[in-house]
Amino acid sequence: MSKNFRIALAGLGTVGGGVLHVLARNRELIEARAGCAIEVVAVSARDRAKAEALPLGNAEWVEGTASLATRADVDCVVELIGGAEGVAHELARTALQQGKHLVTANKALIARHGKALAEQAVDHRAQLAFEAAVAGGIPVLHALRTGLAGNDMLRVAGILNGTCNYILTAMQKEGREFDDVLAEAQAKGYAEADPSFDIDGIDAAHKLAILAALAYGMSPQMDTVHVEGIRHITQSDIRYACELGYRIRLLGIATQHKDGIAQRVVPCLVPADSPLGLTEGVFNAVQIEGDAVGRVLLQGRGAGAGPTASSVISDIIAIARGERWPAFTVANAALQQRAILPMNAHHCCFYLRLTVADEPGVLADVTRIFADEAISVRSIIQHTHDASTPAQVVVVTHETHEAAMQRALAKLDGLTRITQKPMMLRMETV
Ligand SMILES: NC(=O)c1ccc[n+]([C@@H]2O[C@H](COP(=O)([O-])OP(=O)(O)OC[C@H]3O[C@@H](n4cnc5c(N)ncnc54)[C@H](OP(=O)(O)O)[C@@H]3O)[C@@H](O)[C@H]2O)c1
Repeated sequence: MSKNFRIALAGLGTVGGGVLHVLARNRELIEARAGCAIEVVAVSARDRAKAEALPLGNAEWVEGTASLATRADVDCVVELIGGAEGVAHELARTALQQGKHLVTANKALIARHGKALAEQAVDHRAQLAFEAAVAGGIPVLHALRTGLAGNDMLRVAGILNGTCNYILTAMQKEGREFDDVLAEAQAKGYAEADPSFDIDGIDAAHKLAILAALAYGMSPQMDTVHVEGIRHITQSDIRYACELGYRIRLLGIATQHKDGIAQRVVPCLVPADSPLGLTEGVFNAVQIEGDAVGRVLLQGRGAGAGPTASSVISDIIAIARGERWPAFTVANAALQQRAILPMNAHHCCFYLRLTVADEPGVLADVTRIFADEAISVRSIIQHTHDASTPAQVVVVTHETHEAAMQRALAKLDGLTRITQKPMMLRMETV
């Protein structure tokens, strides 16, 4: 075997601990695949006491995490701390400037600073690798970069946040409201104490920006992703979606059009029997559509110690073997400035749930507004209800421009006989 591949590991939490356990468990086969011994020479985190239960081997505990990047005895820094700024960013930048390879699971860091880090990597002949940053254990970046590299990517669409998918699935299966399921997910450790990154769609947007960058040869453009979360989804919407033959999923979608790229993270209705409709609980799934291959589905665990470690270690093995690749699929100099289409340019079928006063003529008001905006209605659901529940009307439209729908929504919101803000969800063909 050739000389050892020497690693410094920063962050010993869920993922860092997982990496140490999998490296210890599968050492022999990992080293056979890497073609050399993988040696963890140094580790660092905030609290040394937490590290004591981990299989640290001969790794040295280091107090100042940032100093890992400047050690002479390290070939590769593995950053598993998190956050777009602060220690993680400092460590990543310094490691690359020192010519050390960088492996990270940090989507926020790559979505924000990916292009600058990729440039530093090239300048200092180091590899930047971040397979674990998108969809945890699913090797989706590898698939885009290698197995599907011959395709013009028409669309990438995925369930990219396991916490949201867990909540939406539990709401559907158990008939419970959002707040109730979220509280339970927090108690079980599936959702953070501050869940906003997950449930407001930010985490999925980081991942989508990275996916779109690889699919379309551009640097990640987080600020141009249209983002909506799932806080406003109610049990009524889940039930109406089921009645229509759909499921509600938070999807990250990037599509290529003649005049640019559309990127959005939105809760939407997908057919119940579609691969994404059938993806339940904490699972992630990414559907890639290439002009030559058609649709390819990758599904698996998008988070957790083992799945995320699986992706981190695949990057370590590839670099230890001597593989090198452009971080965003094309050389940095070839990364293009693609036009990003505004959300108003989108068109799809829409689901609208209207809470209405129980009076004659309400439906006539609604259909007049639709007619004025040239929105054609595909179906309407209105159930009988008792005095304790408000009257609800659900409208499904034919394909309509987002701009027309937004104008119609503003007019509907102004009707006195519509008693709550209308609920609008997009319907996706996946
Ligand atoms: N968890 C997952 O399933 C998953 C999946 C995909 C990607 N990721 C990404 O992987 C990264 C790590 O996530 P995680 O879930 O493993 O997080 P975690 O369990 O919270 O662990 C974070 C680790 O970083 C250390 N740390 C935090 N701030 C630090 C600082 N200022 N200086 C030094 N060390 C510091 C913590 O030390 P102490 O514990 O001592 O405070 C801990 O060891 C994040 O970028 C995350 O987005 C996670």
